[in-house]
Amino acid sequence: MKRISTAFLFFVCLGCSQNVTQQQRTTTANTPTPATNTEAARPAKDPEMDRFVSDLLAKMTLEEKIGQLNLAAVGFDVTGPVVSKNVDENIRQGNVGGVFNTFTPVAARKLQELAVNNTRLKIPLLFGYDVIHGHRTIFPIPLALSTSWDMNLIEQSARIAAEEASADGLNWVFSPMVDIARDARWGRISEGAGEDPYLGSEVAKAMIRGYQGDDLTRNNTVMACLKHFALYGAAEAGRDYGTTDMSLQRMYNEYMPPYKAAIEAGVGSVMTSFNDINGIPATGNRWLMTELLRDTWGFDGFVVTDYTAINEMVAHGMGTEAEVGELALKAGTDMDMVGEVFLKHLGQSVKDGKVTEAEVDLACRRILEGKYKLGLFEDPYRYTDEARPAATIMKPEFIEASRDIARKSMVLLKNNKNMLPLKQSGSIALIGPLVNRQREMIGNWSAAGDWKQAVSLEQGIRNVVGNKVKINYAKGANIADDEQMLKRLNAHGGELDIDSRSSDAMIQEAVRVARNSDIVVAVVGESQGMTGEAASRADITLPGQQLELLKALKKTGKPLVVVLMNGRPLALQWEEQNADAILETWFAGTQGGNAIADVLFGLYNPSGKLTTTFPQVVGQEPLFYNHKNTGRPFGGELLDKYKSRYLDVTNEPLYPFGFGLSYTTFDYGTPQISKTTISPSESLEVRVEVRNTGNYDGEEVVQLYIQDLVGSISRPVKELKGFQKISLKKGEARMVTFTITPDDLKFYNYALEHVLEPGDFKVFVGTNSRDVQEVAFRVQE
Ligand code: BGC
Repeated sequence: MKRISTAFLFFVCLGCSQNVTQQQRTTTANTPTPATNTEAARPAKDPEMDRFVSDLLAKMTLEEKIGQLNLAAVGFDVTGPVVSKNVDENIRQGNVGGVFNTFTPVAARKLQELAVNNTRLKIPLLFGYDVIHGHRTIFPIPLALSTSWDMNLIEQSARIAAEEASADGLNWVFSPMVDIARDARWGRISEGAGEDPYLGSEVAKAMIRGYQGDDLTRNNTVMACLKHFALYGAAEAGRDYGTTDMSLQRMYNEYMPPYKAAIEAGVGSVMTSFNDINGIPATGNRWLMTELLRDTWGFDGFVVTDYTAINEMVAHGMGTEAEVGELALKAGTDMDMVGEVFLKHLGQSVKDGKVTEAEVDLACRRILEGKYKLGLFEDPYRYTDEARPAATIMKPEFIEASRDIARKSMVLLKNNKNMLPLKQSGSIALIGPLVNRQREMIGNWSAAGDWKQAVSLEQGIRNVVGNKVKINYAKGANIADDEQMLKRLNAHGGELDIDSRSSDAMIQEAVRVARNSDIVVAVVGESQGMTGEAASRADITLPGQQLELLKALKKTGKPLVVVLMNGRPLALQWEEQNADAILETWFAGTQGGNAIADVLFGLYNPSGKLTTTFPQVVGQEPLFYNHKNTGRPFGGELLDKYKSRYLDVTNEPLYPFGFGLSYTTFDYGTPQISKTTISPSESLEVRVEVRNTGNYDGEEVVQLYIQDLVGSISRPVKELKGFQKISLKKGEARMVTFTITPDDLKFYNYALEHVLEPGDFKVFVGTNSRDVQEVAFRVQE
């Protein structure tokens, strides 16, 4: 296996690498750590835990230690390409530190007993699971949670997930996923909080608070797992598992903040990402896992790989299985998910002197500490109380919370002539392949959620308006017609039933139904399996014949309301130009149908705002609001040739970041700034009056952005630095105040120092990232 030589240290940053010894250089990565003392200091460890774990480690054989580093997949779910074998026997032999995909107190207890009753030191197992947006009560997909911009509700959704998961035998959840995603082709854009580092950091903190609470030993809290460290969302061409190659400046300023915020919020564990980062896969990247994560940010939990990520370093071209195992351990990766590379090879690697027992000890110590923090040594059965599920799971208040956050996550993209809300009378042509889809409602990563308990839109409408509205249904189109695609989706739980009629026949039926109704509500979008892991799409328009269906419905001349269900930004040019109203509902969770109906009929006035930019066409991707200016920014002049632009489409998005309408209207006063000149240590206030000028009570997300006009490195045209979700009664006005602190003005410079550079700034306030008013201020030396 080739080792990294110092010649490959191509990112030599100013002042960062002078103190790196030759030995460190050969074992660490090609990326330096910033010379800054502004980072988090390592928190002091609990001395009792230290003593306990040291005593235990002293009793352990090398084999027992290596066993702790092994995480097996067993039970009710398959979430990767291979599954673990002989898990029961391996647990008895002390070859397993934790399992995932097993839940329910009975099943978890059975495995816990195997570990506790059969192994010499009775070390309990961790029980992990992909609880991503709810455990049994399913909330909207994470992208949708973020479009609520409501941190209390997001925290509450994680709290409820923790209540249910911990009642169901689990003590560890593989969430939050905080990967910044700017490319709508990437299927996993649905799993995160979108494209913005500031908002992403707030969401990360809210979720960790919700899962972990302030005491991990309580039986209703679970350890969170931050993922996927790092930069997984920046996959080349939006193709899953793709390479990431990025400047350190972009990394630090634009991609790292949510991970760092999660570490500061005390997340207990971190999952490595699959991707290669500037030449070294994350799982074997010592710079990332040790120098940055632990030494600089002060992370004191354990690192688990993603599914078989150590083994996959062989395909990355990093060496043999034994060698990549050594690379991972030395990098600071502690636990091997499913791959069993540590289990198979580490013993020999220690004998051969390739890794030291001290290195194994360190990884083992961190995993034992995780178990200690969860209180598992005190009581291995803390999470297996058989009475809890019935008292906890899908409680009415949890279901109600799921409905509430679902409606608050929906984004009204268009509402011509106040087409929405719909009247609770007359007839509706309810058309489209998603009208009755319960499976889609709960999204792709729906943990132990049962889609049969999800409310479809048709059911939701009936629940909300009863017989007051006549519903005329037609399917109109299949979600997809491509046979290969359908086969793939159904092979992985798609549950798609395909109508065998020709698309013409289906469209004609839908047109007949539309003609006999007052208004058309077309429910179109993606299947849940078209987003999530390994679900990238190169064409992000509506799949199959759905656009043809919309075009035919438009020709009937009936008002056309488009209800979207999907897990990524879509390219919706025709829809924007031709529909009367468009409501983005994402995959809204267990209560999806009720929540959508609440919004459609005005029982809730929509308040969601996009957290990802919607492009006009896929060729604009990756498209995001906080881009740099270029030396030749395009100003809109048709004949201006030598500008940064496309010939065939403008640079504008279809819908910008932060965009979302309401049934009411909000007027913004002129923003006032407390000072136009400040010193580098001063904060300033920005105030703006927001008035509800329409006919409904409503909520508005007031957004604040800044631009640093001159910097030692170029700075984005806008950066979100504050937001407030406020509720205003019809006619009510409120003064909204933001404080901009010196920290908000800082960025990582070329030497990766976190600095505030005095000079001119702009601050923008508005209803989305495009429609803003600006004020200038200056930071004086
Ligand atoms: C995914 C992770 C997930 C893990 C365990 C992987 O394929 O990338 O997000 O937590 O599987 O199911």
